[in-house]
Amino acid sequence: MEFPRNRVDWLKTLPKGSVGAEIGVDTGRFSRVILDVVKPRLLWLIDCYETQPGVPYNLSDGWYLSRFYAAMRRLRVAWSKGFVRLLCAYSSEAALLVEDDSLDWAYIDAGHTEAEAFMDLQLWYPKIKSGGIVAGHDFITGVKDVGVVEAVMEFRRNLRDGPLHVTEECIASFWWVKA
Ligand SMILES: C[S@@+](CC[C@H](N)C(=O)[O-])C[C@H]1O[C@@H](n2cnc3c(N)ncnc32)[C@H](O)[C@@H]1O
Repeated sequence: MEFPRNRVDWLKTLPKGSVGAEIGVDTGRFSRVILDVVKPRLLWLIDCYETQPGVPYNLSDGWYLSRFYAAMRRLRVAWSKGFVRLLCAYSSEAALLVEDDSLDWAYIDAGHTEAEAFMDLQLWYPKIKSGGIVAGHDFITGVKDVGVVEAVMEFRRNLRDGPLHVTEECIASFWWVKA
């Protein structure tokens, strides 16, 4: 089997009509691609649209508001039809609203420090059904304050899940099948 080389090709491997989540939405550019390619029955979209206390970067409220408006413009039709649930919430708050074992897949792309990425894996892994897909973005090394690779490796240490796959992009995505 040939593995997808980029994240759009990876989306094409997801089951049509599935239930998924993108953690970290920003302007909704990739969310729009998910809707077009996967045609999910339900897509949970989670973004806090504000700087978290203690993270190593700080952006203004106006900047986040403009990102939120851009997302709403891109997603409003799917949202009005009930295919999208956009939660302006921290990942940890949003996870409380999503049932365990309810997702066919989750794409984690919110905070990218090792601690943030590890916490998101802990929060969202239980939401994914057995046989579902755990995935995310920024699987890269050598970038200051990005620790997704370390978080994924540590998280997978004691799992008996499927092998880890990574796209061939400069800013790669990862995914694996949950046992
Ligand atoms: C890299 S962007 C997402 C990009 C998007 N997935 C894409 O591919 O176009 C990361 C987003 O995650 C959000 N974010 C960061 N930490 C978060 C947290 N703890 N909970 C919810 N959202 C968070 C930020 O507000 C930002 O919009």
